Amino acid sequence: MTIQTKEDVSQLRKIGEIVALTRQAMINALAVGMSTQELDQIGRDVLTRHGARPAPELCYGFPGATCISINEQVAHAIPGPRKIRNGDLVNIDVSAELDGYFADTGASVPVGNTPAVAKRLCTATRAALHACLHVARAGNKMAELQRVLQQTAQHNRFSVIQNLAGHGIGRHLHESPSHVPDHGKGKDRRRFQRGMVLTIEPFLSTGPTYAKDTGDGWTLVTAPGYWNAQFEHTWIITDGEPIVLTL
Ligand code: CO
Ligand code: CO
Repeated sequence: MTIQTKEDVSQLRKIGEIVALTRQAMINALAVGMSTQELDQIGRDVLTRHGARPAPELCYGFPGATCISINEQVAHAIPGPRKIRNGDLVNIDVSAELDGYFADTGASVPVGNTPAVAKRLCTATRAALHACLHVARAGNKMAELQRVLQQTAQHNRFSVIQNLAGHGIGRHLHESPSHVPDHGKGKDRRRFQRGMVLTIEPFLSTGPTYAKDTGDGWTLVTAPGYWNAQFEHTWIITDGEPIVLTL
């Protein structure tokens, strides 16, 4: 969506804060031996307490309130019996709706004795998202994001997952523009516009450039043995630095 009224901004701030609180509560609760289903329930409880509804369930019938993806899982993994182990890299992605407004946020967190490369991957992915802050502003090309992400990844000898990207959001979980940035081969001439609400969510990996599906209809993975990380915020585009709704 594009911001039309002050009401739009204050409603987005509300749901932005709720998904950020939920993400943080889940990160704080992370523990070795906990199943992803238990962790998901903690997230669901926080959302419910704030009157928000889990967006993946609401919009797509996803079998869970949040997406919890571990190690070789890149995104959209279904909460279930898989237990979190010492040394895992856990991605928590929370999106939700309140009074017809949506926000979306994600973070990857090393649990316990994670190898140094996985920790470096987290740092680099967070840095990639941060670098986008300086590029995502009204008038700039969306393709600039692609350049910034590739640079950050290459500098750290990691890869960018090409088939997952940011998206418009606001009145639905996924709106136009899709694929921000578009890693496809075609020339992407789109530009950021003032008031645009969108997510930016780089996925970096220790080698692969594509996340493939697993046949369960949801979970996207790389081959086992690779590490994957994602950080995501929902932003409002301005003439200067974007407003981050999900800090
Ligand atoms: Co998300
Ligand atoms: Co998203």
